[in-house]
Amino acid sequence: TQLMLQDGLGRKIEYLRISVTDRCDFRCVYCMAEDMTFLPRQQILSLEEIERLARLFVAQGVRKIRLTGGEPLVRRGVVDLCARISALPGLRELVMTTNGSQLTKLARPLAEAGVKRLNISLDSLNHERFRSITRTGDLQQVLDGIEAARDAGFERVKLNTVVLKGRNHDEVQALAAYALERGLDITFIEEMPLGEVGRERGEAYCSSDEVRSLLAERYRLIDSAENSGGPARYLRIDGYPDSRIGFISPHSHNFCDTCNRVRLTTEGRLLLCLGHENSLDMRALVRRHPEHDEPVSEALERALQHKPARHEFSVGGEVQVLRFMNATGG
Ligand code: GTP
Ligand code: 5AD
Ligand code: SF4
Repeated sequence: TQLMLQDGLGRKIEYLRISVTDRCDFRCVYCMAEDMTFLPRQQILSLEEIERLARLFVAQGVRKIRLTGGEPLVRRGVVDLCARISALPGLRELVMTTNGSQLTKLARPLAEAGVKRLNISLDSLNHERFRSITRTGDLQQVLDGIEAARDAGFERVKLNTVVLKGRNHDEVQALAAYALERGLDITFIEEMPLGEVGRERGEAYCSSDEVRSLLAERYRLIDSAENSGGPARYLRIDGYPDSRIGFISPHSHNFCDTCNRVRLTTEGRLLLCLGHENSLDMRALVRRHPEHDEPVSEALERALQHKPARHEFSVGGEVQVLRFMNATGG
């Protein structure tokens, strides 16, 4: 018998995002401040604690787990963790979101550890710009990583682009072309106001409708009703049957009514919504009950009754949420 987790509004919670580290080898301008400090080791969940929580969530009905960060691949032992999570009975798929910097080395081990799909961030195809957006990233390393991922046997590889006016919005067509030529999916994302990153976010706001118009100048767009229950809405492009173009538009089209997900932060807080602070301290629970799962599972079920109806982000980007994206799990 499969249990099912349901929140207070009757939404079925089948998808858990886990941030396995707040650390990252990049410092993207929309994600981090330049002088970011990271959490001390004892504050973050151990790999054993993550595995245990993953098992409890799956036992309660979670069918899909996405590992994120920070950059998940900078955490030592993460490939082993993937192998253990992907083997949990009842889990439909383990997937990962990465910045791609380690994939020439790790794409194949990840596929062998049972990771089914990868989402890879790619904000520019221009070397200097890529450096200026990520502050420390090397474009060539990521492009090589994307090729390694294509060869490694994942079911799908998707690219993620956060579109910023004045930084990369003029590359929307080129980035789409890059994805289409390779049969990859690509999702264009509106920036969300998480954490004080040291710049005005509103100025760079580029709506998904603008991105869509830019694409329409070059391609024949076909609307698509596909939806993964997630935040993205999709289009297809005439002549490129293998690719989907997604839009994540927290400002212009929120998807809160059909939200199917919760997330576990690096510190083990269960966040019920990306845009709210309500959380359950699962780190305290697992440390208080090292042997007994029931109290942890019960607290989890109760917490879900408080999942908020919707986020309240606004375009101007007044930061209502002080957490940074990297500890939150994108
Ligand atoms: P799938 O739905 O699993 O394909 O992936 P995804 O697109 O949700 O995951 P990914 O990690 O690639 O994240 C892409 C963007 O979606 C990031 O900017 C996330 O912050 C954003 N995102 C993910 N979950 C949520 C959510 O619950 N609410 C909002 N507003 N944005 C989200
Ligand atoms: N707004 C929107 N997307 C963001 N990401 C990181 N920070 C933000 C933000 N403030 C994206 C990354 C990555 C995914 C995990 O989240 O580009 O693709
Ligand atoms: Fe690192 Fe991803 Fe944040 Fe960029 S967006 S700094 S790659 S965690």
